[in-house]
Amino acid sequence: MKIKIFGFTIVSTLLSIVNAKVYNFKAVSLSNNEYILGVKHDDVIDQMTPAAFPLFTAQIEADNISNYKYVVLDQTGQVVEEESIDREYSEDNSNLNEVYNRTTKQITIPELPKPFKTSYSLGSKNFVPFPNNEIWTIHAQCDEIYDEVKNTPFLEGNLRNDKESNCTLTIITAEDVYQYQGTTRLVGFGSRLYKKLSWVFKIKDDKKFFGRTALKVRSMSNDPTLMREKVLTDLYTAVGVPVQEGTYARVLINNDVWGLYEVVDTLNKKWIAAYVHNGDKKMVGTNYKLFSFHPSGPYAELKYLGDDPELYDPVNYTVDEVDSDDVEANKNSGKYYRLIQFTKKFGEWLEKYQDDSSDEAYEALEKFLDIESTLKMMVVETLSLVKDNFWVIMGNVALYYNKEKDYYQFLPYDFDDAMKGIKGPYLHDDYIQDCYTWADDVPNFEHYFTKGLLSNPRISERYNIILAKTVRDTFNLDTVSSHIDAYADLIREDVEWNFNAIDNLQTSYDGFVNHYTLNDFEDNLESGHLLVDTTIRTDDAPYGLKEFIDIRGNNCKAVTADVQIPEEDGAFSHSFSIFLLILTQILLFITLY
Ligand SMILES: *[C@@H]1O[C@H](CO)[C@@H](O)[C@H](O)[C@H]1NC(C)=O
Ligand SMILES: *[C@@H]1O[C@H](CO)[C@@H](O)[C@H](O)[C@H]1NC(C)=O
Ligand SMILES: *[C@@H]1O[C@H](CO)[C@@H](O)[C@H](O)[C@H]1NC(C)=O
Ligand SMILES: *[C@@H]1O[C@H](CO)[C@@H](O)[C@H](O)[C@H]1NC(C)=O
Repeated sequence: MKIKIFGFTIVSTLLSIVNAKVYNFKAVSLSNNEYILGVKHDDVIDQMTPAAFPLFTAQIEADNISNYKYVVLDQTGQVVEEESIDREYSEDNSNLNEVYNRTTKQITIPELPKPFKTSYSLGSKNFVPFPNNEIWTIHAQCDEIYDEVKNTPFLEGNLRNDKESNCTLTIITAEDVYQYQGTTRLVGFGSRLYKKLSWVFKIKDDKKFFGRTALKVRSMSNDPTLMREKVLTDLYTAVGVPVQEGTYARVLINNDVWGLYEVVDTLNKKWIAAYVHNGDKKMVGTNYKLFSFHPSGPYAELKYLGDDPELYDPVNYTVDEVDSDDVEANKNSGKYYRLIQFTKKFGEWLEKYQDDSSDEAYEALEKFLDIESTLKMMVVETLSLVKDNFWVIMGNVALYYNKEKDYYQFLPYDFDDAMKGIKGPYLHDDYIQDCYTWADDVPNFEHYFTKGLLSNPRISERYNIILAKTVRDTFNLDTVSSHIDAYADLIREDVEWNFNAIDNLQTSYDGFVNHYTLNDFEDNLESGHLLVDTTIRTDDAPYGLKEFIDIRGNNCKAVTADVQIPEEDGAFSHSFSIFLLILTQILLFITLY
């Protein structure tokens, strides 16, 4: 408090000794770095001190601050904006990094029920899943290469501009602030057709953030609900397929406010160690990413082409992670060895057991393929109708040789347009009812692997059971609604800011933009349809998110209505737990009366 009249100073100091208290404030600015934040309390405005941009702090001595607001100030200290929230001071909140114009609140995201036992760790002690109930803020201060990349994400001939720029990274979580030297570059191909670009941040100097050295931030440019991918990764995780999970973050780079993003892990050795091998890096084996060119082909068909590694053109398969300790591979054809082995084994299995419903046939496949996670992945694809992934086109998926278990498994990633119910160029007319052959009609692609797999009666029976249990336990409106509503509560205050950010972005790149509104967000979460409209939207969302889950879930429920869930999948334990519940009620009744 400033005292101007000399005579009152002593009185005021005395009063201060009796009454004054220090009030602490920490707040994240969402304006660019030409602005600072201030605290407004009792009609006084105190400038805050830059801590680690965009975080500002203040320690204010005062008799009693009970209500306050954050304000945006320009360089001369003039208030240019005031937040809409009335805040009440509390010791708890004073320890948190509050965010300008965002309510400080506790949200719990109800977990999706897990329909199956799973053998994967899905995170390790030093590489835990990201917390999903807060929104981080990431600011990168980068060199001039960033501007070049932002303005020209494609070079001549549609080549990707993947130049890296050096940056200082600041990541602000609810309670902490982290700073690193690092780099950033663009990721993906399809995602950079949009004006709101997707980035990867890498951390240098052997430093780690939550055990990570890289973070991908995905723009969600074509999703009015900003949560389809998030909910889908939760679904993969619930059924027990390891995927790169995510959390939300607001992204600012230099003076650009990019908006709300989904932060996800990159598919790398550390992630594989944590999510597949319980943290043991020595166990990480060779990993291949599958690439397909649709509709002309070639597709990564997983067909055996011979023992010559040259035949496995890097166009169809790229080696993403090599296990240099793989003695057998080193003795043979090297880094393509495991891929060749897989295609060979699968081809032999198919030839021998295609129509064979014996245990032997199942066990022969189980020896080299994780059947469970493969079918679970296919079930999630069926339910979500992802269009660029494994079943439809053999894309956005890796084939991983798990040397710990000595089998192969698939690792899916990047789930664009999931749960939108878009027909797209490849699905047939009644795709929305079809839970079995919805993905099979792609031109120039015979679906050698997926059709071959499901042609075995035991495998297709198992697919049916997984589908039936997943829709009954998890993928239905009753179960998923509270999950979706909780995410909506978490991000709602960021939605409008996010959609508007793209219009204020300084860039010469003329990428696609979807001008969604807060209303579009609310509508499309429920059953509002948002169709392409060339002046404002480049993407279709023909179903609302909840509506889609309801329709798709019910369709796949109807076709699996007769499927009996075997006891080992928890049918027994479920009825047993009901039995226990009734027993305890009876005992309670007897004790009480
Ligand atoms: C501070 O002010 C608030 C509201 O004006 C009042 O409720 C509270 O009792 C005051 N606290 C102290 C310590 O004077
Ligand atoms: C980026 O940083 C690396 C060292 O980490 C350095 O070698 C390189 O020259 C830097 N690039 C620019 C453009 O400053
Ligand atoms: C790539 O895929 C195409 C189409 O399936 C196939 O004809 C071709 O042989 C594959 N190339 C290699 C080298 O694997
Ligand atoms: C604060 O956020 C609300 C939405 O939650 C928005 O309507 C309002 O315009 C924002 N105010 C400022 C000053 O940014």
